Amino acid sequence: MAATLVLSLFLILISSSLLLHHRLPHPGAKLDLKACKFNAIYQLGDSISDTGNLIYEKPGCVFFKFPYGETFFNRSTGRCSNGLLMIDYIALSAGLPLLNPYLSNDSLLTKDQGVNFAVAGSTALSPNVLAEKNIISPLTNSSLSVQLHWMSTHFNSLCLNARDCAEKLKRSLFMVGEIGGNDYNYAFEQQKKTIKEAKDMVPQVVQAIKDAVQTVLGYGALRVVVPGNFPIGCFPICLTGFQTNDSSAYDEYHCLKEANEFSIYHNDYLKIAIEELKQEHPNATIIYGDYYNAFQWVFRHASNLGFDASSLLKSCCGIGGDYNFSLAKRCGASGVPVCSNPDQRISWDGVHPTQKAYHYMSDWLIRDLLPRLGCGPV
Ligand SMILES: *[C@@H]1O[C@H](CO)[C@@H](O)[C@H](O)[C@H]1NC(C)=O
Ligand SMILES: *[C@@H]1O[C@H](CO)[C@@H](O)[C@H](O)[C@H]1NC(C)=O
Ligand SMILES: *[C@@H]1O[C@H](CO)[C@@H](O)[C@H](O)[C@H]1NC(C)=O
Ligand SMILES: *[C@@H]1O[C@H](CO)[C@@H](O)[C@H](O)[C@H]1NC(C)=O
Ligand SMILES: *[C@@H]1O[C@H](CO)[C@@H](O)[C@H](O)[C@H]1NC(C)=O
Ligand SMILES: *[C@@H]1O[C@H](CO)[C@@H](O)[C@H](O)[C@H]1NC(C)=O
Repeated sequence: MAATLVLSLFLILISSSLLLHHRLPHPGAKLDLKACKFNAIYQLGDSISDTGNLIYEKPGCVFFKFPYGETFFNRSTGRCSNGLLMIDYIALSAGLPLLNPYLSNDSLLTKDQGVNFAVAGSTALSPNVLAEKNIISPLTNSSLSVQLHWMSTHFNSLCLNARDCAEKLKRSLFMVGEIGGNDYNYAFEQQKKTIKEAKDMVPQVVQAIKDAVQTVLGYGALRVVVPGNFPIGCFPICLTGFQTNDSSAYDEYHCLKEANEFSIYHNDYLKIAIEELKQEHPNATIIYGDYYNAFQWVFRHASNLGFDASSLLKSCCGIGGDYNFSLAKRCGASGVPVCSNPDQRISWDGVHPTQKAYHYMSDWLIRDLLPRLGCGPV
């Protein structure tokens, strides 16, 4: 355990020095979250933010085989990327340790500074609700409601009573999502749903996220970020699944227009839900996390940021087709190649961004969130 602690301190030192060396060409000096004086961060979500929960539920999963983790950790940690995720950069920016996954005993070491409840492959809707739509959650049953249950168990051990909890949590940051992307992915993959048909699911998915925010506020949260979805039409998995010869289906960046519009549709619903929550909870700071535009900013400045402009839509780790991605033979499976320089790629495995892309996205996101978090002058 002591060794783990030393290792994580070491990693934090390394990555802080890395952070200093990555000045963005845009815009101005680097801002960080230390002004917020967060005492802890709690994360709910899926593979975009899981730092190692699913690895305990499904140790054999391809996400947990090398080359996952190769760039930062030189081993697989359960993160679905080659290195750090946005939540890792957010924790570093706040001056906190990387969040340990709830299911690992390491989470006890840093439990006062936050816990990660996110599980890769998880859904916003619970498995029984998805089953009514003939959708199964293939990797995990630990949907939002299970993660909230874990959170409640955790707070029961952390706090003496509700009042004590409110006191402890008032300086904590809560990240509720990104979540919901898999509900749609599974509908596309298993039900061969069209993007139009998947729109029918949006109100229910957003309601589940809204309910989760209500629950978290009930535990005593005062600062909650609710992230939306990425422009999935620029991701190899979607580009492969909905590939078409109709050139009018693509935008000027060769992303699928309808798929990106679908993300905007979900995000617009989510923003309305957030407005309603703010009305109902005037004392809490509840803000939208704009993952969509964080990604777009990186995507559109890709060349200036050092990405290889000719492979923005190709997986670094993957094989096959026009996007170097195939559902049947994914990164982590034997014989699947990995690109020599992941730092020049946006997509790691066709589904998840690379550490480098996450790093720039989190810089953008922190800059966007900071003025709205109410942490004092920035
Ligand atoms: C990465 O891990 C491999 C196998 O565990 C080891 O042989 C190699 O030396 C490590 N590389 C670095 C840079 O630590
Ligand atoms: C955590 O610790 C408990 C009690 O010591 C043990 O039973 C359990 O297997 C450990 N879990 C992990 C994931 O290491
Ligand atoms: C989810 O729960 C159902 C019912 O208990 C079970 O059959 C299924 O195997 C579980 N799925 C996963 C991925 O654990
Ligand atoms: C596109 O057109 C080519 C040549 O006609 C055909 O082989 C291919 O299957 C088409 N692809 C799709 C996705 O419709
Ligand atoms: C909101 O904040 C005000 C001023 O601090 C306080 O008087 C009030 O009780 C709070 N309301 C709730 C619902 O917590
Ligand atoms: C996919 O990427 C790997 C690593 O860059 C490369 O070895 C392989 O040739 C690529 N495959 C295709 C079909 O582009």
